[in-house]
Amino acid sequence: MDKNFYITTPIYYPSAKPHMGHAYSSIIADFFARFKKIDGFSVFFLTGTDEHGLKIQRAAEQRNLDPLELCDQISQTFKDLSKTLNLTNTDFIRTTEERHKKSVKYLWKELKKNDDIYLSKYSGWYSVSDEAFYNENEIENVDGKKIATSSKSSVEWVDEESYFFRLSKWQKPLLEYYKNNPNFIQPESRKNEVISFVESGLKDLSVSRKSFSWGIKVPDDENHVIYVWLDALTNYISALNYPDIKNQLFKRYWPASIHLIGKDILRFHAIYWPAFLLAAKIKLPEKVYGHGWILSGEEKMSKSKGNILDPLEIIKIYGLDPLRYYLIKEVSFGNDGNISQNKLEDCINSDLANNYGNLCQRVVSFAVKNLKSKIPKKIKFEDEDIKILDNYKNNINKIRSKIDENDINFYIDFIINSLFAANKYFNDQEPWKKKEDTVRLNTIVYTTLEIIRKISFMLYPIIPGTSLKALKIFDINENEINFSSIEKHDNLKPESKINSIDILFRKIEKFDD
Ligand code: MSP
Repeated sequence: MDKNFYITTPIYYPSAKPHMGHAYSSIIADFFARFKKIDGFSVFFLTGTDEHGLKIQRAAEQRNLDPLELCDQISQTFKDLSKTLNLTNTDFIRTTEERHKKSVKYLWKELKKNDDIYLSKYSGWYSVSDEAFYNENEIENVDGKKIATSSKSSVEWVDEESYFFRLSKWQKPLLEYYKNNPNFIQPESRKNEVISFVESGLKDLSVSRKSFSWGIKVPDDENHVIYVWLDALTNYISALNYPDIKNQLFKRYWPASIHLIGKDILRFHAIYWPAFLLAAKIKLPEKVYGHGWILSGEEKMSKSKGNILDPLEIIKIYGLDPLRYYLIKEVSFGNDGNISQNKLEDCINSDLANNYGNLCQRVVSFAVKNLKSKIPKKIKFEDEDIKILDNYKNNINKIRSKIDENDINFYIDFIINSLFAANKYFNDQEPWKKKEDTVRLNTIVYTTLEIIRKISFMLYPIIPGTSLKALKIFDINENEINFSSIEKHDNLKPESKINSIDILFRKIEKFDD
């Protein structure tokens, strides 16, 4: 089995500081990266910033900055955010880096060499905010202004010489590819949108602009810059040192296991990107997953709408892990989700503090008091112990395949149910009444501690900081977390020390209106 896993986030525009939508894409990607890592995969996790194009050039002009100066500043805030979110990204790519420019130019030449690029003229609508060309039927008139129906962003008329990519030529091969690789576009509902768009006919795509200069110059034609999406998408291979396809990184990690993106940019990833790759005779990524939007009210959060929730402020108030947990759990993956502080507080109180934190705290306190802070030696499992422990073993392969199907909801539900079951088990077994029966008392505590270990392993991809704090109970460190060990029951070493831990989550006081 191939034990390499390559996951990417979209590369973000450094035109404004990061918001919750960006944090969401990154946190979800980190969840998958961490899960695969603890499941024995060699993981490459890429994120970065998308720094060329008219959107960035205009943002810089507005601030009286040179575009690169603006990119340096804001790209740094995205890098800082990666740290703040505790992302395990292997690399952070900026499209203004030489390594990237080199790849893009090479790819362009390949496309040109294969006769997939030709010079003509573009007349049509363009949205600078989306960096996208739109057909007449994708545009509407609102209050005398032309906007793109899908994104609601304003469009302007462009009339200029442009290089075109022969996208139309790839319509059939793309449809064929979707058919032969039914999991390529996920989730299913969005896949159908893409397929019907492709079936309705693909027009050749304008892939250069002449009326501004902030971009990578077209090889052999300095008057044009390469269309920012052709430039940006290439980041996924430039980070693996394309065109050096014989190097270890490329050999190991390409094709990508999954490009995780927002649904707004599915067309670029599920149509244009695979078409470029087909034309350049490069393998296609295994999967493109378009997640839903974080909404604020009913609208997608974005700077131009002025409804941004700042992830840094939320983290300052509640801490990082509650935010990670909340976004992963409450936004049903694949769908849009509203975010509210009220629900975040409920998550902290019920799932994190009551269910998980409390379980760890009470079992450890009990063990410290009654078992001299040592993992008990003499134990004898009864049916009810084996039953609760076996639930992990019985589900381990299902959990793995659900993760491969990107079913985060299943993963979270499994954890929440396991926490309930563990708390119930400890209550029902009443170890405090078993002080005369040492073996039984030992076994109950051992079983519950073993469950805490298993659940903390499973929580590591979601709330890594807290999971590590909890695993201090057993002196287990990050490198020792191993998903496959949740099926074994004999992990805790008899006689080894049980450490007390600080409270994991403080409950938030909520006042009814
Ligand atoms: N630069 C392009 C992507 C190029 S990838 C080769 C871009 N950047 S972006 O900064 O505008 O947004 C990137 C991604 O951020 C979106 O696709 C989505 O994944 C995420 N989000 C931005 N706003 C969002 C929400 N309100 N909700 C959830 N995610 C959203 O597009």
